[in-house]
Amino acid sequence: MNVRRVLFVCLGNICRSPLVEAVARKHLDEAGLDVSVASCGTGGWHTGEGADRRMIAAARVAGHDLSAHCARQLNARDFDDYDLLLAMDRANLRELRQHAPNRELAAKAVLFLEWSAAAPPVEFPDPWHGDAAGFAAAVALAERSVAGFVARLRTA
Ligand code: 4NP
Repeated sequence: MNVRRVLFVCLGNICRSPLVEAVARKHLDEAGLDVSVASCGTGGWHTGEGADRRMIAAARVAGHDLSAHCARQLNARDFDDYDLLLAMDRANLRELRQHAPNRELAAKAVLFLEWSAAAPPVEFPDPWHGDAAGFAAAVALAERSVAGFVARLRTA
């Protein structure tokens, strides 16, 4: 599979997928890989908003800048525009597959942590309802899993 464009997908596009997008962009750049990344949410409640302030703060501690993020919702064109649509959890994956124009394109949607062959968990926990520790844990998980993601891309 020639993977050149990757879309990270969560529910609101204000916490997990913007975080993973920023971490991935940095690691891909450092690895010299010509792969572009973006993110979106299956839901549209936060369209046009920036990332969650708690997520911005936790990411900043690890050197990732989410301040320019602008949330957007998944649309049907995304299945044509991206080679791979990586869902943060099973609910996101289910939504993604329901919105795919056909079965062939639906196969582009897979679980992010499964695809990146990271250690458990297979779902990326949503920090939105939690405290600052949950946001810090999300950043740590993003760093670990993006390392696996980049390693897999090298062989994809
Ligand atoms: P995310 O987190 O999917 O990681 O961006 C959430 C953000 C907002 C909501 C749920 C999850 N919400 O219900 O508004």
